[in-house]
Amino acid sequence: MTVTLDHLAATALFGSLQRQPPDALLAVIGMHRADPRPDKIDVGVGVYRDASGKTPVMRAVKEAERRLLSTQDSKSYLGAEGDQRFTDQLAVVALGERLAADPRIDGIQTPGGTGALRLAAELIARTERAPTIWIGTPTWPNHAPIFRAAGLAVRSQAYFDAARSDLDFDAFIAGLDQAVAGDVVLLHGCCHNPTGTAFSTAQWQELAALTASRGLVPLIDLAYQGLGKGLEEDAAGMRIMLDAAPEALVAYSCDKNFALYRERVGALWVQASSPAAVVPVRETMLVLARSLWSMPPDHGAAAVRLILEDNALTADWRAELVDMCARINTLRARLGDAHPVLAPIARQQGLFALLPIDRVAVAALRERHGIYMPDSGRINIAGLREETVAPFVAALAPYLACG
Ligand SMILES: Cc1ncc(COP(=O)(O)O)c(C=O)c1O
Repeated sequence: MTVTLDHLAATALFGSLQRQPPDALLAVIGMHRADPRPDKIDVGVGVYRDASGKTPVMRAVKEAERRLLSTQDSKSYLGAEGDQRFTDQLAVVALGERLAADPRIDGIQTPGGTGALRLAAELIARTERAPTIWIGTPTWPNHAPIFRAAGLAVRSQAYFDAARSDLDFDAFIAGLDQAVAGDVVLLHGCCHNPTGTAFSTAQWQELAALTASRGLVPLIDLAYQGLGKGLEEDAAGMRIMLDAAPEALVAYSCDKNFALYRERVGALWVQASSPAAVVPVRETMLVLARSLWSMPPDHGAAAVRLILEDNALTADWRAELVDMCARINTLRARLGDAHPVLAPIARQQGLFALLPIDRVAVAALRERHGIYMPDSGRINIAGLREETVAPFVAALAPYLACG
């Protein structure tokens, strides 16, 4: 039988696939790269940058990698859990000594925070209830697709009040009215992406009481610990939730606070209702990981483990992280002082802020001034330098509505 081209087109396996829009942020990167203007400013890409505009390998990571290179004598498989010593050491940094030792909590290494979120989604999807995930908007654009990819229903509620450039706690809480027991509430542990906002301690306590009393399960996405106020401060809200909740999940990324981005380093911890209940949770996580990525990449996690097992390296990592955090907060203060509409930025935290401008203004800033950001108006504060704050604000000012 001869197969005609028409027949092939009609039956081709991939014939039904649709074209996909390019990643918006990658498009911004491409345009910035192609711009020859020497004074162009990239506040688009969401990575930390130092005062010279670089995203350096942290000192402690460099040293740990040096040691790994000279001492590692095998690259044989570990297991679906990855480097368990890494996860256990990291638990002390993330959860704190007490919760890290809680027998109801167990965790495994994942490929970055994204892997942790995807594993959390798959785990939730395997439960009998297949609950809905509640996500405040705006949020990291990858959140909803990750949960939907696991077949979960996603509902969103308001989180941000653009007019006040602040989080709208009442709307966020009211949005949960329709959530039912067993539903999962996604919470940014600190340094909200894209708004830079954070719940106050009182708000965390209220959220903890509300979710516990309604049987809602918190899933805390902690991707920027140490880049907001400090390691302990940035984990405090998450710990309040774990203390109150019978069940909870923590998706963690080391890719920003260890600047390991492309090495893909993260972990997922689950708090179950009892020490016995966490055993099948762990076993299910391992089975799921096996079919998702088999085993997480080792190198970055091994470097983090070496750092956390060595007091001097840990101290150096902490010191450099404090410097990174201070640089971001200095820039925040400069921006806040430079224009009344930007004042909330000084009170917010982490890499990001959401400017109150539309996509026409974003395009004008790009075309007229070589300032690059995604259409949402999200800026990476660390993309600025002290000397570029003034020209940045001068270019931005005509688009900021005062009063
Ligand atoms: C809020 C949030 N969660 C999770 C992640 C995922 O981080 P990773 O690069 O470790 O996958 C990001 C990355 O930008 C993020 O902003």
